[in-house]
Amino acid sequence: MEILITGGAGFIGSHTCVELLNEGYEIIVVDNFSNSKPESLKRVSKLTGKLIKFYQIDLLKQDLLEKVFQDNQIEAVIHFAGLKAVGESVNFPLKYYENNITSTIILCELMQKYKVKKLVFSSSATVYGMPEKVPISEGSPLKALNPYGRTKLMIEEILQDLYFSDTEWRISILRYFNPIGAHESGEIGEDPNGIPNNLMPYITKVAVGQLEELQIYGKDYSTIDGTGVRDYIHVVDLAQGHVLALDKIKKSTGIHIFNLGTGKGYSVLEVVSAFETATGVKIPFKITQPRSGDAAICYANPLKAEKELNWIAKKTIHDMCEDSWRWQSRNPNGYTKNEELKNPCLIQSEDFLIPNN
Ligand code: WQD
Repeated sequence: MEILITGGAGFIGSHTCVELLNEGYEIIVVDNFSNSKPESLKRVSKLTGKLIKFYQIDLLKQDLLEKVFQDNQIEAVIHFAGLKAVGESVNFPLKYYENNITSTIILCELMQKYKVKKLVFSSSATVYGMPEKVPISEGSPLKALNPYGRTKLMIEEILQDLYFSDTEWRISILRYFNPIGAHESGEIGEDPNGIPNNLMPYITKVAVGQLEELQIYGKDYSTIDGTGVRDYIHVVDLAQGHVLALDKIKKSTGIHIFNLGTGKGYSVLEVVSAFETATGVKIPFKITQPRSGDAAICYANPLKAEKELNWIAKKTIHDMCEDSWRWQSRNPNGYTKNEELKNPCLIQSEDFLIPNN
């Protein structure tokens, strides 16, 4: 039996593939490489010494996706695939609604048809909008403030309706806070297209000399130093949360929602300082206007995931900075090899890090 991972070549997807393969799972990855590169999967194979069954498919192509279900014994699905740039979603809402929502409906229809009813869904703390109070629990008010966030919220509601129409479904909805960092090997990491929207990839691009200085969006928030506070979580901690969420749906029925965060908030200036301490690299910055739609403070109450998934974020902000820098400094241009893969194919890195046993 295999685990189907949509968007498995992406930042969180690739790190989750590593954890699943190391746990002994067999995986099938579907990705259209709209925001990722084949090289990330090659490196996952290199890190784990494992093969990866891969299909380059856009989830909107129902007939092509159906072949994946026909040709494999899929036990469960982890659904990462989706567009995720907040600003872009404001400019191209229809593209976000079609890509994120329609593709999820197509996926779930095929899961239903082939009786694959175990699903882990990649949601986001963005569904909480501007939180009225922190820390944020799963029962906190939901108010997405942009089309991207609304797609996540709508998909959560679709999945809840799906479950209540057929309680054979087992669904875990994971609301990520701010994933940063990289695998300790420096082999895989965050590789955004173009100028990064998010804080840590912007910082590492400044550190590696590709961007001149960090613009800090606002310094008048009612926070420890006036800059925005977020709950940064190491991407490997996040990936391990997916393995535990998969374990849970293998053992128990129902639909469950979990915040995956550390429960601790750091301001932008605190992250900059932590990065400089961890790496010895100075980050020049200037304070600019606040970014519209930004909340002042956002961090999780992670107790439900700790209790029900036996999951707790272990890595520190120092680890996140150190690991982000190791990835970026060793891969200043991210994944550069953009080779064409046969479709479908078995991805096996020619040079496994781990000697062939
Ligand atoms: C963090 C802090 C900024 C960049 C977003 C999405 C969310 C999720 C994670 C997908 C804020 C400040 C940032 C910069 C800055 N993505 N900042 N200068 O906005 O909390 O969340 O990414 O699920 O959906 O909304 O993350 O990293 O963009 O910002 O000062 O160049 O850093 O104001 O306080 P955010 P972020």
